[in-house]
Amino acid sequence: MLGMGLNDFCKQIGTVMDNIPDHEAPARIAEILPGLLAVPDLLKPEHRKLPSNGYGRHDVFLCPNDRFSILAAIWPAGIYSPIHDHLTWCAFGVYEGVLHEMRYRPAHSSKNCAHAIKTAFFEHKAGMAGYLPPDEPDIHCIHNPTDQTVISIHVYGGNAEKLGPNLETIYSVET
Ligand SMILES: [Fe+2]
Repeated sequence: MLGMGLNDFCKQIGTVMDNIPDHEAPARIAEILPGLLAVPDLLKPEHRKLPSNGYGRHDVFLCPNDRFSILAAIWPAGIYSPIHDHLTWCAFGVYEGVLHEMRYRPAHSSKNCAHAIKTAFFEHKAGMAGYLPPDEPDIHCIHNPTDQTVISIHVYGGNAEKLGPNLETIYSVET
């Protein structure tokens, strides 16, 4: 059964998606996500499981109409994600701990370029949320700079089980 916090949040996302275009949804969802990040019993033990390698992703809620998915990501101490862009829009926030996020742009104008140049750095503390710009290159890397496991909550467009990992291209840094 859904907790009240999650239930309310899903209803709010439904309202957002009914009333504004998809490309405006991530910014609006990032505004309401801190309300979900403040729910103390949001995650069940299975959502907190550490993977044997890499970072973990666990479905918290999949919209039955495939409009959006809510996932918990589990970041072991010190881990970096690949530098990646996304198949669908994304809003995310930190539930426990601190994450660093580096944003990038493609190094060349070519569509198939897999080199990227760093453009921005963000520190996300527990309770803070952000989103990736849906109309621009949405390339980033997430890093757990701490010696503790960190948990973030991600809201993606579409059904995360059907889409698989929300990665389109893996980039390397232009040197
Ligand atoms: Fe990502």
